[in-house]
Amino acid sequence: MVSEKALDQWVVEAISAISLANDLEELKSARLAHAGDKSPIAQASRSLGTAPAEERARLGKMIGEARAAVTASLDSRKEALEILRDEKVLLEEIVDVTLTSARGHRGGLHPITLLKNEICDFFIAQGYGISEGPELEAEWLNFDALNIPADHPARTMQDTFFVEPLEAKLVLRTHTSPVQIRTMLEKQPPIYVICPGRTFRADELDATHTPVFAQVEGLVVDRGITMAHLKGTLDLFARKMFGEDSVTRLRPSFFPFTEPSAEVDVFFNGRWIEWGGCGMVNPKVLAACGIDSSEFSGFAFGMGLERTLIVRHGISDMRDIVEGDLRFSRAFGVGL
Ligand code: DAH
Repeated sequence: MVSEKALDQWVVEAISAISLANDLEELKSARLAHAGDKSPIAQASRSLGTAPAEERARLGKMIGEARAAVTASLDSRKEALEILRDEKVLLEEIVDVTLTSARGHRGGLHPITLLKNEICDFFIAQGYGISEGPELEAEWLNFDALNIPADHPARTMQDTFFVEPLEAKLVLRTHTSPVQIRTMLEKQPPIYVICPGRTFRADELDATHTPVFAQVEGLVVDRGITMAHLKGTLDLFARKMFGEDSVTRLRPSFFPFTEPSAEVDVFFNGRWIEWGGCGMVNPKVLAACGIDSSEFSGFAFGMGLERTLIVRHGISDMRDIVEGDLRFSRAFGVGL
């Protein structure tokens, strides 16, 4: 039969093991060993049934007290170890809310859009406005109003995307020049605008062509506007695009909507490079828009944004601009 001494001894051993447990895992082992089913106290408790009846109450009370002492010790140790564990977790999983996060890439602006914004900012700073027109354009505005006759090669199926039904006389605009017409029909001079936008021509995509591209058009109509204003404006624009040393030269050319007309070249990296077209707005175009050409004159210019980017950054393949590979775009910054 279990003696009081043995019980005391077990309780001492149990409390000692419990107090030595350094974490909840160790405490679990101590509980199994000293308060579990196989522990000496549990076995003593089970053997109560075989104890002589007169002893049973006293023994039962003794065992109960021993159990209560062990349980109390377990509970208080558990509470202490839980506090320790929580403190440790707080330390280990500490979050420094002041750290900058390694955020994923959230997207950005395409290099052509960045260039467009750069050009817009430059002209806005000089007092120009931005004019826009639709990509699906009336054939009349894309060609006729610009003095481009019906038999002009630019109109043929090879160059122009005509849109069905053909009777609707709509095309995907082949240049941004129709926005000149829209602007002059809408407002009276003085007009100082640039018209950036997407344009379309039926070309195959290759290293130097793309069927969808972007242009920026400039239009100024005011009293006393001369080619000198055009040249000065192009020089400033060229310096903004290609650096302070950049200059432009005009070569005689022909566009139906300007008279005289010129090609504008830019001197960059030691050579002349074709940049765009320009000229004095043809009086016929002014007249078609209801502007009195004896009072007002104007200049216009138009260039490709892809071409500008290609020249400025030495890009060798047009497809890099079109395909939207982030490795290409990131080199230009993302502008967000
Ligand atoms: N629209 C012409 C083109 O796409 C470019 C151009 C030439 C625009 C002369 C102009 C200009 O405004 O004056 O090829």
